[in-house]
Amino acid sequence: MVETVKWTPEGVVMIDQTKLPRTVEFVTCRTYEEVADAIRTMVVRGAPAIGVAAAMGVALGVVRTPAELLEREFPKICATLAATRPTAVNLFWAIDRMKRLYESLRGASAERVREALVAEALRIYEEDIAVNRAIGAHGAPLVPDGRSVLTHCNAGALATAGYGTALGVIRAAAEAGKRVHVFADETRPFLQGARLTAWELMQDGIPVTLITDNMAGHFLKSGRIGCVIVGADRIARNGDTANKIGTYPVAVLARENNVPFYVAAPISTLDLTLASGDLIPIEERPAAEVTHVFGVPLAPEGVAVENPAFDVTPARYITAIITERGVARPPFEESLPALAAAPQTEEVRP
Ligand code: MRU
Repeated sequence: MVETVKWTPEGVVMIDQTKLPRTVEFVTCRTYEEVADAIRTMVVRGAPAIGVAAAMGVALGVVRTPAELLEREFPKICATLAATRPTAVNLFWAIDRMKRLYESLRGASAERVREALVAEALRIYEEDIAVNRAIGAHGAPLVPDGRSVLTHCNAGALATAGYGTALGVIRAAAEAGKRVHVFADETRPFLQGARLTAWELMQDGIPVTLITDNMAGHFLKSGRIGCVIVGADRIARNGDTANKIGTYPVAVLARENNVPFYVAAPISTLDLTLASGDLIPIEERPAAEVTHVFGVPLAPEGVAVENPAFDVTPARYITAIITERGVARPPFEESLPALAAAPQTEEVRP
């Protein structure tokens, strides 16, 4: 399986997701600033993957900072990585976890701090793969045999440390012997569906058909789609879910056509501090992503553009949220806090 992000002695190595699928290139980030740039420019993207990259970025910053400057530099390292993308809560979750460990090591030698922070970043990486496999195991029974699954954006191995959340559920269903076929929305403007989901599933031999975003309603109405499964960037306490722009209309169309709509996400994507999705910050990205495709202009120069990278699907459209600790069903105000408080299951524990 593809390695999205990896810790090496030279630095943090990432597959360059801005270049896929035309070329498979790897980028080595040798400083924490380079990791921050890679997150901002979407060399690495997807909520869990940016969490893992940020944790490795913090570790890299600590390893490369002279011991006498660490006390002063550590807050700057964390703040730089936290300022990259605002919506996916996994980024802040991972940085907070690194911060807590750092604070607990006050008074320890620089060597000990470095070792512990690198080990923690590697643990976040390994846990993410285990979490995705557990999400897959909980979600696979929900995938109907012999029908198609529609997905939006890329919530696969490329969006995580490996295996994927939404695509992890599809992989687990295929591994369990179910006949699965995926409709992948192209996902304008960044084309994660066309470029990444289609590529990743083809690498794995899982049948996939690419459609443009405006075809989703047509296929949901056709009766060929057994369920929709998407990932998430942040889930509020009431179940409202931020995910890639264009997810909300898919959820409404799924409801209109009586097709179950599932969100697959780790517990680290829950933000129980937010009462509803109205409070989730939505990233605005550069206008050029809308006016240009691969550097070629499509629109008249100077046209006004808005480019929100995410939308919020109201909880009422979500059939269930699949996590590594089980499947949450409405009312989510009750089921999500209960899952968040549940003990970590054996297979995911470090
Ligand atoms: O802007 P991106 O590509 O980082 O957005 C990614 C998504 O919206 C994914 O669906 C989400 O992060 C879940 S990834 C397992």
